[in-house]
Amino acid sequence: MNGRGMAAGKQAAERPSRQINVVIRSQEPQNSVEAAAAALPAKELPQHALYQEIRKELDQLVGLDNIKDLVFEIYAFLQIAHMRADAGLLSDAHVYHMIFKGNPGTGKTTVARIVAKMMQRLGVLSKGHLIEAERADLVGEYIGHTAQKTRDLVKKAMGGILFVDEAYSLARGGEKDFGKEAIDTLVKAMEDQKNQFILILAGYSGEMDFFMHTNPGLPSRFPIQMEFPDYTVDQLIQICELMAKDRDYILLPQSILKLKQHLMAAKQESLHAFSNARYVRNVIERSIRHQAVRLLNQYASGQPGKLELMTLRPEDLKVSSD
Ligand SMILES: Nc1ncnc2c1ncn2[C@@H]1O[C@H](COP(=O)(O)OP(=O)(O)OP(=O)(O)O)[C@@H](O)[C@H]1O
Ligand SMILES: [Mg+2]
Repeated sequence: MNGRGMAAGKQAAERPSRQINVVIRSQEPQNSVEAAAAALPAKELPQHALYQEIRKELDQLVGLDNIKDLVFEIYAFLQIAHMRADAGLLSDAHVYHMIFKGNPGTGKTTVARIVAKMMQRLGVLSKGHLIEAERADLVGEYIGHTAQKTRDLVKKAMGGILFVDEAYSLARGGEKDFGKEAIDTLVKAMEDQKNQFILILAGYSGEMDFFMHTNPGLPSRFPIQMEFPDYTVDQLIQICELMAKDRDYILLPQSILKLKQHLMAAKQESLHAFSNARYVRNVIERSIRHQAVRLLNQYASGQPGKLELMTLRPEDLKVSSD
């Protein structure tokens, strides 16, 4: 989505009451989304319920403010496009193929799932499912095999999103590599099956920039680019607490302190390879297993109380410095 359309969409997202005024011209301007939604004809209501639903899902994600803004920009744009079509105005077909740039574990797949659902609910996609693929799923072993494999995958993704992780690896081998055939087949499918699926190419920022330069036709085909920054240590702690809460566990303040110190070191040590929220998820899941072993040993007879069953102590967090 480029400049003007998105800018218009963004303004609308920031002033939801104006979107609604477009529809109910006979009504007085409303001050809040809720009040306006209540005044809308029945057929408009699900769209506003969707607005709340998507916001709730995105709000559960720590940070990612730029992504949240862009998702709402797309939402607002689509809503206005519907209203414009209803009003007999031009609403040109848009291209929604996207590039997601970011290190591992920065939320790319999670956001792609939310976008897929939103696109389905707004009528852009018929099914709204997500097919995740990587180089090996697209590239074959002999001439013609790659095109077939890629076409099969596109077929599976029809009505949904085809999400290609580490997409830059398709350009890795240069002209003679079958990866190029996969790119060409994807580009052809984007033309032939226009608006029937959305292609998201994901990968490390630098590599994706390089990849886009390998084929001059690519940048214009992916008008939406989202940057997924690395999480700060504080954001990682928040994510960790959320993950623990979702699983009915709590971390003692001493556990959080220990984790914080560990994350600071781990982030510095691995830099590019640090897997952000996924790293934290692994730490939590490992700690849960360690807590289970500790409790079983501790309570050879009898049973731990509810609070004990929930609590992750510093000794459960077996981080590498232990
Ligand atoms: N901002 C966030 N808030 C809460 N949880 C998050 C956030 N970002 C990611 N997660 C969680 O971290 C895990 C990894 O996220 P996800 O799979 O979306 O990352 P990714 O960028 O696709 O990683 P990869 O590049 O390795 O495939 C998931 O369990 C996800 O729910
Ligand atoms: Mg992923």
